[in-house]
Amino acid sequence: MSNDFLNKPASRRAFLSGSAAAVVGVAATGTARAATPDPLITEVQPWASGLGVGVDEVPYGLPIRFEDDVVRRNVEWLTADTISSINFTPIHALDGTITPAGCAFERHHSGAIELSKDDYRLMINGMVDRPLVFTYDDLERFPRENHTYFCECAANSGMEWAGAQLNGAQFTHGMIHNMEYTGVPLRTILEEAGYDTAGKWIFVEGADASSNGRSIPMEKALDDVLVAFKANGEALRKEHGYPVRLVVPGWEGNMWIKWLRRIEVLDRPVEGREETSKYTDTLADGTSRKWTWAMDAKSVVTSPSPQAPVAHGPGPLVITGLAWSGRGAITRVDVSKDGGKTWETARLAQPGDRMALTRFYLDTDWDGQEMLLQSRAMDDTGYVQPTKDQLREIRGENSIYHNNGIQTWWVRENGEAENVEVS
Ligand code: MTE
Ligand code: CO
Repeated sequence: MSNDFLNKPASRRAFLSGSAAAVVGVAATGTARAATPDPLITEVQPWASGLGVGVDEVPYGLPIRFEDDVVRRNVEWLTADTISSINFTPIHALDGTITPAGCAFERHHSGAIELSKDDYRLMINGMVDRPLVFTYDDLERFPRENHTYFCECAANSGMEWAGAQLNGAQFTHGMIHNMEYTGVPLRTILEEAGYDTAGKWIFVEGADASSNGRSIPMEKALDDVLVAFKANGEALRKEHGYPVRLVVPGWEGNMWIKWLRRIEVLDRPVEGREETSKYTDTLADGTSRKWTWAMDAKSVVTSPSPQAPVAHGPGPLVITGLAWSGRGAITRVDVSKDGGKTWETARLAQPGDRMALTRFYLDTDWDGQEMLLQSRAMDDTGYVQPTKDQLREIRGENSIYHNNGIQTWWVRENGEAENVEVS
């Protein structure tokens, strides 16, 4: 047990009031400890006998060095190179719901480019009364909105179709981030150009070499899509599409065009030239599911998990994780400690926001026995996150995209956890 744990008896005891045995345990250890003088308390420490750094030392801060393992990571064997590749958000080490931009996953098809605001142009053409080109400054003159949304790559958990594979929530579920975006509704831009109502689709592309073109139904474009230039209050980071990216709430990350260059209004989707043909799901019978844009409800326990083992013995344990749905708001998350035989309803840190990450907690008293930890999300459409087996019955094992099956962590008596499957 860490000093931290023992030096906060008041709040811990209040929390433990339901569990007499555990209260005695904490009190007993606490008493034993009090007999040994703790130099961290009794001795003057270096940080109290000198001065800290001044306010002009760090104009823009990074996390303290003790946290330097909370970083994006890639899986080398997943892709041939690091340019057309992906890295993963360290979700096992974060809390709350907002993903700091500096550790939010990146997915590029031709690398992250550097495009200045001065060099930025956004063209809108096709079935419009007035083809237009906007500069960055032009975009900032439209009324703007703020919304928090998750962005999940369709390939998130894609390595897990054939069985438990990657050992860590960062790698199984870390192709996701959740930020507060500031931007102009795409509707405003379409109206400014006078879009033709016979145009049922838009084709959008980025300024990078891959251009990552995608077709989006006009209905969605007019609904909640944002042309965004700020995330978490600051300019988008280069790797997330500076200076302007598309935000397509609830829909697969591939449609969130970075370095947004062009919007074309069309009466049909652009086939062949775009990513749509690639982003399909191969079913057991060899046929393909296509146009699966919305990300279905999903959740994962972020701690404990393989990269976040239980750091203490039996007693109070906070089980926590994330839940999200591309079709609406999370209404409930259940947690199982026995591989899905029995379930307890977790506490949502806040009522679920539409198409945004929701944090859940299960404040529990761990008996020190091994657990098969799972979480199961439900959204306001009534949808319940399926087990991996239920998903495979319909989708087979040949898919890569849209794996939203229930994740299992086997937490052992020593607190270590492993990615496993139960059936
Ligand atoms: N946009 C452009 N222009 N180029 C790209 O390679 N990758 C897409 C999408 N938009 C991509 C792009 C994919 S597959 C995903 S999952 C998201 O961007 C990832 O966004 P992020 O890098 O901000 O996490
Ligand atoms: Co993607």
